[in-house]
Amino acid sequence: GPVAVLLGGRSAERDISLLSGATVVTALESLGCDVRRVDPATPGWIAQLEGVTFAFNALHGPGGEDGVIQGALETLQIPYSGSGVLGSALAMDKQRSKQLWQGTGIATAGFAVLTADTDWDAVMTRFGKVFVKPACEGSSVGMAPASNAAELEAAWREAAVYGNTVLAEQFIDGPEYTVAILGQEALPSIQMETDRAFYDYEAKYLSDETRYHCPSGLDAASEAEVAALALAAFRALDCAIWGRVDLMRDRDGRFYVLEVNTIPGMTSHSLVPMAAAAVGLSIAALVRRIVELSWG
Ligand code: DAL
Ligand code: MG
Repeated sequence: GPVAVLLGGRSAERDISLLSGATVVTALESLGCDVRRVDPATPGWIAQLEGVTFAFNALHGPGGEDGVIQGALETLQIPYSGSGVLGSALAMDKQRSKQLWQGTGIATAGFAVLTADTDWDAVMTRFGKVFVKPACEGSSVGMAPASNAAELEAAWREAAVYGNTVLAEQFIDGPEYTVAILGQEALPSIQMETDRAFYDYEAKYLSDETRYHCPSGLDAASEAEVAALALAAFRALDCAIWGRVDLMRDRDGRFYVLEVNTIPGMTSHSLVPMAAAAVGLSIAALVRRIVELSWG
């Protein structure tokens, strides 16, 4: 039977998912698969899964990447790509991800949950500078830096549009890295560099000015350290098959995990395809590997 590619959906990352999905469709077709595109924003989309033998999930954000669709596919007994229900749900929730890492000794940037009752001054006194982010979004949607109490409250208001839980995360002064995971292995790390205030939506998808370093320039010991940390963070959340772990490194050389993405972007600007290329894996080979690992 055909292989479904789930794409689009209703999250704030719909447009990115359409691009990721198109990459996956092209890859699967080049491998000779009979592909059926299924957009979970379409009424009756579940009926389009009738007869499919496998679902490649290219959805990003809540409703697609957070365990909900994974649970539906389990119920329908359709094998699907990537992490299961629990890993997907935990990784989409940055508050629970960070609590789990703190509980298992995995370094993550400090944070506070913001509410209307938050003492804005106390948060700024504690952290100095923070990034405010919705707990359950991707692609930096709803994210902003804050350096004082007024900025913090304004950023909280903006972020709260995207969900009830909003975090202020301690700003780590240093470069951002990402590590792609494929099966039991970490692929070579990538360092991202932007002239924007941070690696935001614009820097991720629109700017041609963002610089990607792969190899990232870490010495062998630091590369091994960041790979081990990324794998530990991934496994602590019960994630599996493939994903991408985002981290910061402070000026003293310490790494801090920011988040795990269980369905990382597969656009032309995206990082997992870049890391795969560094070990000689084409996008088609990467997609085939994900299917084999998931279905196997
Ligand atoms: N959330 C986006 C798609 C990423 O992590 O690549
Ligand atoms: Mg993310």
